[in-house]
Amino acid sequence: MTTTITPLIAGNWKMNGLRGSLDELTALAGMLTTGEAPRAVVVICPPATIVAAVARQGASAGILAGGQDCHAAASGAHTGDIAAGMLADAGAQYVIVGHSERRAAYGETDEQVRAKAEAAIGAGLKPIICVGETEAERDAGNAEDVVANQLAGSIPDAAEQHEVIVAYEPIWAIGTGRTPSNDDIAQMHGSIRRQLTDRFGEKGAGVRILYGGSLKPQNAREILQVENVNGGLVGGASLLAKDFYTIISAV
Ligand code: 13P
Repeated sequence: MTTTITPLIAGNWKMNGLRGSLDELTALAGMLTTGEAPRAVVVICPPATIVAAVARQGASAGILAGGQDCHAAASGAHTGDIAAGMLADAGAQYVIVGHSERRAAYGETDEQVRAKAEAAIGAGLKPIICVGETEAERDAGNAEDVVANQLAGSIPDAAEQHEVIVAYEPIWAIGTGRTPSNDDIAQMHGSIRRQLTDRFGEKGAGVRILYGGSLKPQNAREILQVENVNGGLVGGASLLAKDFYTIISAV
């Protein structure tokens, strides 16, 4: 049985964006509403300070907002952190969890990522759960095992009943301009799909698996048509409306 999945293109603005950056959002909204209707769900994950503005200003063009991280707890003494419920309250519908930059900089473990994903689901958000190998792990031939372990540890059982999204982002491809070959992407996404269907059955067949890592206007068309690639998680190229729109249009 084949499951039809509407692709999703998410922009991760990382720690970039002031209120003035909303001009790019306005430009993107203009392109999305005047051109051909996008064939993908479009999400922007800006810094937390402008999530509410993105949610408000993007709505009429169908642009959805997401957070870049959340705490596993609903509230409490966690200075500087943000709860999933706060993002939802600001109008977010998605949240990235377990991005490799957070796993590296804050030592986030699979267990913590799973707890964040559970908190997101509890707050009514759809978690975008990130996994991906280092270059050394790929060179050693361990990429699939590393990603399989991350998936097993990071995806909560609640994914059986709720929507989760997986983002495969090879760490060595992030911000480097380098990407895996289409065959390597197909192999990894196929392996992720098998793991999802083994664990969640038919539900796993419908989980979106995004590719991320130097996804650009120049390579989007090719990468987004690889089997089991159900959209993309875009960093640098999501900051400019024109580039991001070109990637969305490549679906
Ligand atoms: P780049 O698209 O800038 O390589 O970043 C990818 C990424 O980390 C998205 O989460």
